[in-house]
Amino acid sequence: MCGIVGYCGPKNVTPILLDGLKRLEYRGYDSAGIAVQTENSIKVVKRTGKIQDLRAIVPANLEGHCGIGHTRWATHGGVTDINAHPHQDSSGKIAVVHNGIIENYTALKASLEKQGFRFASETDSEVLPHLIAYYYQGDLEKAVRQALKQVKGTYGIAVIHSDEPGRIVGARYGSPLVVGVGDGEMLLGSDVTAMIAHTKQVVYLEDGELVSLTKDTYTITDLNDQQVDKQVDEIQWDLEAIEKEGFACFMEKEIFEQPESIARTLSGRLDPEYTTGKLGGLNMTSRELLGIRRIKIVAAGTSWHAGLVGAYLIETLARIPASAELSSELRYRNSVVEPDTIYFAVTQSGETADTLYAMRELKRKGARVLGICNVVGSTIARESDGGVYTHAGPEIAVASTKAFTSQLAVFYVFALLMARMRDMSVSAGQRFVKELQGIPEKVREVLKQRDHIQALAKKYYKVRDFLFLGRGLEYPVALEGALKLKEISYIHAEGYSAGEIKHGPIALVNEDTPSVFLVPQDSLRDKVLSNIKEIKARKGPIIAVCTEGDAEVAAIADDIIPVPQVDELFYPFILIIPLQLFAYFCALELGRDVDQPRNLAKSVTVE
Ligand code: F6R
Repeated sequence: MCGIVGYCGPKNVTPILLDGLKRLEYRGYDSAGIAVQTENSIKVVKRTGKIQDLRAIVPANLEGHCGIGHTRWATHGGVTDINAHPHQDSSGKIAVVHNGIIENYTALKASLEKQGFRFASETDSEVLPHLIAYYYQGDLEKAVRQALKQVKGTYGIAVIHSDEPGRIVGARYGSPLVVGVGDGEMLLGSDVTAMIAHTKQVVYLEDGELVSLTKDTYTITDLNDQQVDKQVDEIQWDLEAIEKEGFACFMEKEIFEQPESIARTLSGRLDPEYTTGKLGGLNMTSRELLGIRRIKIVAAGTSWHAGLVGAYLIETLARIPASAELSSELRYRNSVVEPDTIYFAVTQSGETADTLYAMRELKRKGARVLGICNVVGSTIARESDGGVYTHAGPEIAVASTKAFTSQLAVFYVFALLMARMRDMSVSAGQRFVKELQGIPEKVREVLKQRDHIQALAKKYYKVRDFLFLGRGLEYPVALEGALKLKEISYIHAEGYSAGEIKHGPIALVNEDTPSVFLVPQDSLRDKVLSNIKEIKARKGPIIAVCTEGDAEVAAIADDIIPVPQVDELFYPFILIIPLQLFAYFCALELGRDVDQPRNLAKSVTVE
């Protein structure tokens, strides 16, 4: 979704803003702009399209030492140059960039218009510069504070005024904002990727906080002007983590990084002595863990698919009833919260509005909510009662890949921990630990199928509809495979339980609709084989992802992707890899923008 960057310091701000926006591209956007403080005025350059389109129209002589920039993902008002941010007040002295939605903007706009303020755009955001101008009496921080008291909705904002050179005022409510503390320079960003090239020292703002920064200072206050003391955190990863390192795009890099990212997630979390899992961040004693009677998982998209695998695994291994629900559904359902239930909010970004609000609603009812997050310091990570960081490293491609397998890894560790407190034996725990430790290597083996999967993509990329089918633990993997294909290649794909297909979707099957079957050597393999035969009898082409050496499946399928044998509980790790690669190569054949697919955003901070 929208991104913000701001800079105050000795360097020329223009390239810093443009580079920061480039790093925010992954969030998804349709227009971009910058505002630079020059001597006594503010120059705004903005347009629809990509950062390189913006770069092309920025005058070579646009220089300054303080400015703000924005990538916009349209919500209110179409994708036009005028609707792009920064927005200005009528005098042109104030410039504002805004993430979030101002819910009462219609009323605010009507009242400002009555007082003579003239609006240029169709956006909700434009009320902010006018409202700030209305209150401005020589103190930008004060005017922003007064304006925000009138606003209902969500915001992360950065504001500059031509009469206050070298100052940026920022504020957050429901949309993240981070201060980057440099040496003689300060930055502001909607996430740390915008500033990692300049500093690793950051301060995360909370809802209701406002920051005023100059090149040497930052002051954080609340909306009542009370000073807030905050700790400075250090970002634990380097610039290289968000660069492509020779891969064609971030998605390819992130797919191939999975042996390492899964190993990172597992690192220090398996206890060989007691053959169990170690998750200190849960902030729960063994006695408390023993008291859990039910586990509920809330998440969206790919994270929900990981949650479905997690619920299956926890129930199977630990014999604790577990389920996974879409956060957008849970939030508005008057769900029952019981004291011996724990909740997991699973999220790569830690900022997904649906999951955040579902979590807040659960907490309001007294639930204990633990986070499984990738982004350190994200809102969900900070607001949860405890949790686990996945440590997959920054995921830049919009389509989630390595975050998914790392979320799986966390659930495997947690299921082991719970199972070993109940009826899993020491030796079964030992086998489980060994198998889990071996997963990164097995994933590496699957990745060697790259060329074969690319050849399959070349054969099938013109197909209009696909079915992805699996049962048991493979059902969520089928959902995830279908999601990957549709979001980056725009080919229609349905993920279904293979057992459910005869209850309706089989009507779609014909010689032009291939089915991708997940059919490893597990206890449901024969059932899935029967499902394959049902499709085959109706002339549906079959691509089977199966265990190496399964001659029976190979004989019936049109194409196979063989994967190494693992214990049957561990196939989700192994089976998702070919599906990620298949989606990637189909998208490549179709010339899609793999890292930034149309209409999608990395961090979905609106409902
Ligand atoms: C799919 C994808 C989305 C996200 C979903 C939740 O590739 O990326 O479906 O999984 O928007 O995002 P997080 O995990 O950040 O809460």
